[in-house]
This record gives sequence, structure tokens and C-alpha cells, in this order.
Amino acid sequence: MKVTIVGAGNVGSTCADVIASQSIASEVVLLDIKEGFAEGKALDMMQTATTLGFGTKIVGTTGDYSITANSDVVVITSGIPRKPGMTREELIGINAGIVKEVSQNILKYSSDTIIVVVSNPMDTMTYLTLNSTGLPKNRVIGMGGALDSSRFKTYLSLSLERPANDIHGMVIGGHGDTTMIPLTRLACYNGIPISTLISKEKLDKVAQDTMVGGATLTKLLGTSAWYAPGASVAYLVSSILNDQKRIIPCSVYLDGEYNQDDICIGVPCVIGKNGCEKIINLDLNDDEMMKFSQSAEAVRRMNLALKSN
Ligand code: NAI
Ligand code: 2OP
Repeated sequence: MKVTIVGAGNVGSTCADVIASQSIASEVVLLDIKEGFAEGKALDMMQTATTLGFGTKIVGTTGDYSITANSDVVVITSGIPRKPGMTREELIGINAGIVKEVSQNILKYSSDTIIVVVSNPMDTMTYLTLNSTGLPKNRVIGMGGALDSSRFKTYLSLSLERPANDIHGMVIGGHGDTTMIPLTRLACYNGIPISTLISKEKLDKVAQDTMVGGATLTKLLGTSAWYAPGASVAYLVSSILNDQKRIIPCSVYLDGEYNQDDICIGVPCVIGKNGCEKIINLDLNDDEMMKFSQSAEAVRRMNLALKSN
């Protein structure tokens, strides 16, 4: 099983590290445009194989796509973050150009691959990748909900003072501070609804902390986070490569589901060897449905910026 990760920066290299150290794939290719960067990261990681005890081969390349040939999964993390003074539309313009070019290059050598989009604004970049490649909708998956859900579960575990692994919860909607929807009503601790275990005030605070989870880390780190994003991508890749059919919230194309169409946005998906194999239709209440439609409107406004670039 071969995985290519485009962009050997913070998220891409962390993802490669988790995939290799957990032996999720037999080969990982890291590709970047910064001269020598991906080769250096790959070599450094390979030198952890004997101490960590894994057999995954990690290869780095500066822009040679032929090395990525026959990848089962390709993860796109290439792009730039928003800089001071830069409008969202300008960021979208730059990242759209990168993501479009990268996905076309990838498909020249791996026409059957499944693409996982990470670059921000992720829902818009996923929509762009799907439209510009013409791939079937099951083979283009945006990663955001897996990360947001892991942040949600972390904050729930801190609030409950219980182990995070015993907690289940999901975040759907857009991958943005104001667009994501932590589903507090459905969160549970070992099958017990968490809404019966902590106060509404505490639960509201957990939801709020989750929504600004990325921004909190950007403030602390001076750039966006990478450990949880990289691990969340690896979790998704593992479900594809091992055909685990985990239910993971991902940004995928909706064609009537949740009363939406012509949009990529986070919904629970069955993730297996064919990518997004099924969208799970949750029985949302009126308030949750209203939040979802507001979130979709915000993502659609962002998608409009693609037209002006
Ligand atoms: P980074 O700046 O550390 O890495 C990005 C890498 O992409 C750089 O090494 C750069 O040289 C490379 N790159 C740029 N253009 C390229 C091209 N045409 N071909 C190949 N490589 C190219 O950034 P970081 O922190 O790794 O974040 C990457 C992206 O992921 C950003 O857009 C960020 O906003 C997004 N992100 C998304 C998350 C999500 O949940 N969807 C979570 C965290 C980050
Ligand atoms: C995050 O959620 C910024 O998308 C990035 O950490």
C-alpha cells in the first residue's frame, strides 16, 4: 500500500511520521517544491525505523511526480496559510492554483487514487479538487471533521474528567470557527448521553472551545497546529487502506443529503477501500438542521471566491 503526501511541511510530515510509525502503509512518498526539504524529512524519518521498529519505506522528492506512481491514496497538504493583510479571496486564489496543479500532476501517475484534501479553506479546496479533476465523488475526501471531532472529544474528556477513549462525539458542517457544528446532543460517555452528566453551561463551553480549537492553537504556536491534524489524516488513510469502514465526518460532495447539493461539507461517512462508501443520514433536530444549512451557506459563499480567481 502506497501513500503520497504532497507538502512536506508541518502537517504533511507529521502525517507521514504517524503512517510510517504505525505501519499503516508499506511506502510513503513525501513531495514538496522546496529544494531538498522532502528528501531531508524522509531520510530523517527513515532513520527512526530501527528504533521505532517499523518497515515502511519513506521516500522524499522535490517535485518529481513519477516517484508517486501507483499511489493508493494521495494527501494534499500543500498551500500557504493566510498572512497579515491578505484577504481570504487572495488566499483561496493562491491555494486553489496549487491544489489544482497538484491534483492534475498526481492523476498523471495514479489515475485510480483516492485524494484526501487538507489544504485550507478545506471544504472549498475539496470542492475545487472534485470539480477540476472530474473524479467520482467517493474518491475526493476533505479532512477536517476527524480533527474537529478529536478536539471535541478532548474538551469533553477534560470537562468530564474521564478518559478521552471512552468518549464518542462528532463534529459536522464546515471546517471553520463559525461553521462547524459539535453535536453535543449525541455525544456520549460509554453509552451514557453526556448531556445528562455535565451542565448545559459546561457543554456549551466545550462546544465553543472546540469551534475555536484551531485558532487557539494558532495563537499559541504562531502557526496552525500539526500533531492532531497529521494524526487525523493518518486515521482517515488507515480506514481507507485497511478497508475499516469507520464512520468519520469528512467533507464530501452532497447530492441531496442533508437537503444540500453542489457543495462539499462535513458529514458522517463510511470510509473504506473505495473512499467515501456511504454518507450516514443523521436524524438531526430542527436546531441542528438550521445550523447545518447556515454552515452550508457560509461554505457556499467561500466557494464563490473560486469563480473570481
Ligand atoms: P506548511 O507551510 O508547514 O507546509 C506546506 C508545504 O507545502 C510547504 O512545505 C510548502 O513548500 C509546500 N508547497 C507549497 N506549494 C507546493 C506545491 N505546489 N507543491 C508541493 N508542495 C508545495 O503548512 P502546514 O502547517 O503543513 O499546513 C498545510 C495546509 O494544511 C495549510 O493550508 C493549512 O491551513 C492546512 N491545514 C488544514 C487542516 C485541516 O483540518 N483541514 C489542519 C491543519 C492545517
Ligand atoms: C486547524 O483546524 C487551521 O485548519 C487548521 O488547526
